[in-house]
Amino acid sequence: MNKRIDVLKVCVFALLLTSGFCSASHALPVVSPMSAVPAIPEQYNCITCHLDMEDETITPPVNEWKESVHRTAGVMCHDCHGGNPADDDLAMDPDESGFTGKPEPQDIPELCAKCHADAKKMRQYNKRADQYALYSGSVHGRKLAKGDIEAPSCVSCHGKHKILRVKDPQSMVNRNMVIETCGGCHSDKAKFEKRRKPFNQLALYKKSRHYDLLSKGDLLVPTCVDCHGNHGVLSTKSERVRTVCFKCHGQQAEAYKQSPHFKAYKEEGEPLCFTCHNNHDVEKPGVAKFSGENDNDCIGCHDEKSKAYLTGIEIQSALTSTISALQEGGTALADLKENGHGGFETSSLEEKIAKAHENLTELHSTTHGLNVETIKKDSEKIIQSSQSVSNKVASFWAEIKTRHRGLAVAWIVFLGFGYSLFTWSRVVDKQRDE
Ligand code: HEC
Ligand code: HEC
Ligand code: HEC
Ligand code: HEC
Ligand code: HEC
Ligand code: HEC
Ligand code: HEC
Ligand code: HEC
Ligand code: HEC
Repeated sequence: MNKRIDVLKVCVFALLLTSGFCSASHALPVVSPMSAVPAIPEQYNCITCHLDMEDETITPPVNEWKESVHRTAGVMCHDCHGGNPADDDLAMDPDESGFTGKPEPQDIPELCAKCHADAKKMRQYNKRADQYALYSGSVHGRKLAKGDIEAPSCVSCHGKHKILRVKDPQSMVNRNMVIETCGGCHSDKAKFEKRRKPFNQLALYKKSRHYDLLSKGDLLVPTCVDCHGNHGVLSTKSERVRTVCFKCHGQQAEAYKQSPHFKAYKEEGEPLCFTCHNNHDVEKPGVAKFSGENDNDCIGCHDEKSKAYLTGIEIQSALTSTISALQEGGTALADLKENGHGGFETSSLEEKIAKAHENLTELHSTTHGLNVETIKKDSEKIIQSSQSVSNKVASFWAEIKTRHRGLAVAWIVFLGFGYSLFTWSRVVDKQRDE
């Protein structure tokens, strides 16, 4: 394996070297990506006049557009606003030049769709063309179509003129920005209080384990769009959203589907994953949930004396002994390695501990099945394996003790012998002197 990596490294190095030589010897002109940007036509009066105006509403669109993906793709002012850029006087005359002005919010999706829903056009750029269709069926699209202009149009999520590629870190919909784009609007108290809707999703999300990992660069944890969709944001009553956790947490979902809770969900709509873990402020759970006091712990639905609650306590107790047995085994082994002065073959014990950790991770998923028998069986296996490590380590220590004792006896005998020799030689010397 390592050899293969070394060979690869050499190849890459060689490639870098030769490419360096090639570009040096042929001295090819460096093609900057900017040169692929089409030139702005001469006499493009929309831009010259709007820049000349130095006005705080009509000049910024030009500068913002200049930074956009549309500038790069040659999508010009008149492609979205109509008008005749070549005619300075009649440039914005609706009758003479087909100028459409500033579009109303409700008209924006259709405006963008002119190109983005044109599959033939988008194929040239290797881009999908389904955003408009998805959006039109979404909660947002349907609200806007009914005249609710507080619901987002395309530009609410992408920006008005400075529309960037999704992969641009500054894009409003880039993975590192999108929670602020969705969450920013959804935190607007003035908009949501009057609708009697919560406006705390972003604040809650920022307390979650998911966000914690997102902010450390984890690419697998969900942002708003992974759970709700981006263009086709669905109603939160839809099955797809309510069971969205299944998508990524397959092991827990499999176990959950075997539990009485899944049956209850099918019949009564509860409890689902987010009933116990919350949807936005998902925390790192622990065994304390079985005996916790919150509504989303077992006690939230089951009486302290109920069979269900006591089942939870039984599971908790199995987990607690498993965790502590594994901890003991792990600590004992670590202590032996640190203070045992080597000389023992510990790799098989390390493997055992690693395997036991793996099994414990699985067990934390299995618990969702609420099958006490299975849980106890799996738990027993981990405990036995951990204890066998603890026992083996103890036997090593016993061996070390015996060795030390043997060594001490050897020293005592050795020193005693030395001392006798010494005193005997003094006696002999004394006798000789006399
Ligand atoms: C001779 C100067 C000039 C030219 C040429 C010009 N504009 Fe304007 N534009 C203005 C001024 C001034 C305003 C603000 C006052 C108004 O709405 O008429 C404006 C406003 C606008 C608005 C906002 C309208 C609204 O309803 O708020 C849009 C959109 C616009 N221009 C697009 C264009 C486009 C597209 C072109 C080229 C086809 C163009 N302009 C050419 C000067 C110009
Ligand atoms: C991809 C389509 C698109 C392009 C290209 C585009 N605009 Fe716009 N423009 C819009 C939309 C959509 C709005 C309405 C935004 C809103 O609802 O606030 C708008 C609004 C405006 C306004 C009104 C002020 C404002 O900020 O709302 C002006 C002025 C304007 N555009 C000028 C221009 C000029 C000049 C260009 C060329 C440099 C240009 N636009 C290019 C889509 C476009
Ligand atoms: C509620 C916010 C929101 C609205 C409204 C919205 N978008 Fe998007 N859009 C996104 C997000 C988020 C992405 C990034 C997708 C991803 O994460 O892969 C995106 C990506 C895109 C892309 C890149 C290609 C792709 O599909 O991934 C295009 C093009 C696009 N949107 C066009 C539109 C158009 C046109 C509209 C209006 C019909 C629109 N968007 C409305 C959030 C939105
Ligand atoms: C005249 C055609 C046209 C119109 C109208 C138009 N676009 Fe575009 N758009 C394009 C082209 C062409 C690209 C560049 C595709 C490429 O290079 O990959 C693009 C790129 C984009 C991208 C970047 C996709 C990516 O690669 O991540 C987004 C987002 C986007 N447009 C949103 C919009 C929105 C929002 C509107 C309406 C306000 C709109 N577009 C209107 C033609 C258009
Ligand atoms: C410009 C503001 C705005 C932006 C940006 C926005 N939304 Fe919304 N969203 C709304 C409004 C307004 C509603 C309709 C609320 C109502 O009256 O039911 C809504 C509805 C929703 C709903 C339905 C809630 C329910 O009760 O079923 C969800 C889910 C949602 N948005 C998620 C998102 C996501 C995810 C994003 C980002 C991709 C986003 N929103 C971006 C304004 C926004
Ligand atoms: C891990 C998945 C997940 C993530 C991430 C997530 N949501 Fe949700 N969201 C849900 C679920 C599930 C519901 C439905 C909960 C219910 O019905 O009690 C929901 C409900 C909502 C609602 C309806 C009102 C409410 O608060 O119950 C809105 C609006 C919403 N989410 C917006 C957002 C926004 C904005 C973000 C990003 C900041 C986001 N969500 C992130 C899963 C998620
Ligand atoms: C897009 C994939 C994805 C979705 C959807 C998702 N998660 Fe997660 N979740 C992750 C990842 C990745 C982690 C971090 C790795 C791990 O601990 O499994 C995580 C972590 C967690 C944790 C913390 C586990 C721990 O030990 O730290 C819980 C609890 C959790 N998710 C519950 C949920 C719930 C409940 C939902 C649905 C409302 C959900 N997740 C939706 C991917 C997802
Ligand atoms: C949101 C409410 C809710 C929460 C929280 C909840 N349960 Fe349940 N549970 C139910 C419902 C509903 C049923 C099915 C009806 C019934 O048997 O009571 C059920 C059934 C059960 C059963 C089967 C009962 C039987 O008599 O066979 C067990 C076991 C159980 N739950 C354990 C737990 C444990 C353990 C927890 C905490 C980790 C928990 N439940 C949390 C609602 C909940
Ligand atoms: C009845 C309440 C309840 C339901 C429903 C529930 N969980 Fe859990 N979940 C728990 C408890 C309690 C723990 C802690 C168990 C443990 O430590 O072994 C936990 C632990 C977890 C963990 C962390 C596992 C780990 O390795 O520490 C994740 C991830 C998780 N659940 C996801 C889910 C998903 C996804 C669903 C839906 C398929 C779900 N949960 C349904 C109560 C629940």
